[in-house]
Amino acid sequence: MKLEIKNVSKKYNRNKYGLKDFSITIEKGILGLLGPNGAGKSTLLKMIATISKPTDGTIILNRNNILKDANYIRKQLGFLPQDFGVYPNLNAFEFLEYIAALKGIGGPNLKTKIQQLLEGLNLLDAANKPIGSYSGGMKQRVGIAQTLLNDPKIVIFDEPTVGLDPEERVRFRNLISDLAQDCIVILSSHIVSDIDTIADQVAVMKNGGLLSQGNQEQLIKLVDQKVFETIINKEELKNFKDNHIVVSTARKVQGLSIRYISENPITGSTSKKANLEDAYLYLTKIN
Ligand SMILES: Nc1ncnc2c1ncn2[C@@H]1O[C@H](COP(=O)(O)OP(=O)(O)O)[C@@H](O)[C@H]1O
Ligand SMILES: [Mg+2]
Repeated sequence: MKLEIKNVSKKYNRNKYGLKDFSITIEKGILGLLGPNGAGKSTLLKMIATISKPTDGTIILNRNNILKDANYIRKQLGFLPQDFGVYPNLNAFEFLEYIAALKGIGGPNLKTKIQQLLEGLNLLDAANKPIGSYSGGMKQRVGIAQTLLNDPKIVIFDEPTVGLDPEERVRFRNLISDLAQDCIVILSSHIVSDIDTIADQVAVMKNGGLLSQGNQEQLIKLVDQKVFETIINKEELKNFKDNHIVVSTARKVQGLSIRYISENPITGSTSKKANLEDAYLYLTKIN
């Protein structure tokens, strides 16, 4: 599996780009697409899913240009859009049957397949109730189930963990790890902790461009030896932020405990082991 995005741009109007001259190569495994709101994640994912077309550039899956042959990717794709809507009057089972029909999936094994998906996503108990009565997390799990109906080889989840509680997040993570054995899985989020334990590769986006791509170790290297902790007075915070990248603050009896990124740490700071959150913050702040 090899997905190549080559110099892709999406121009929404005269001076608004959702994505600009964006290139990335994605291979088997889990890619975490990380970026603040408005970075262009959904714009990119919708074009890979062929529900929107680039203004420029090409998208190639295993040597097939999907802008010319959309069916090539559609047949092996599972896609959970960010604004996934469900049909409130159908129950989960009926909804999945309906989506299967739309995708042209049928055959004697369909019912078993749906049962397995509902079970895997802990929806079996609720499967006979209308989706309109589900919680946000349950609806999201129906959306996830829908992506897996056709045993996809490339699965795209746009902000899948929104609305999931911590337990559901863990479940989702396990499901994704199982899935990614020989597939491409792309997972977008604006929250580092959503992807940092599962992504093999991480791509950081901002303003329609790619800031950096690599495995977690490679990204963390960017801030190696640059992460520190110190205690300052509350009043010093504003001035401190002007000179360093502040990752987090915590109130302590002695003052404000600050985790920060800097080439020139203030005296009395303790060096800290860098993590992906530090690298993400660093990349999005300096660019
Ligand atoms: N249909 C649209 N028309 C005009 N601008 C859009 C449209 N969709 C997205 N944008 C703009 O493109 C940029 C990228 O948006 P989006 O891809 O949704 O980012 P993300 O998913 O990373 O939050 C944003 O500035 C957004 O306002
Ligand atoms: Mg989005």
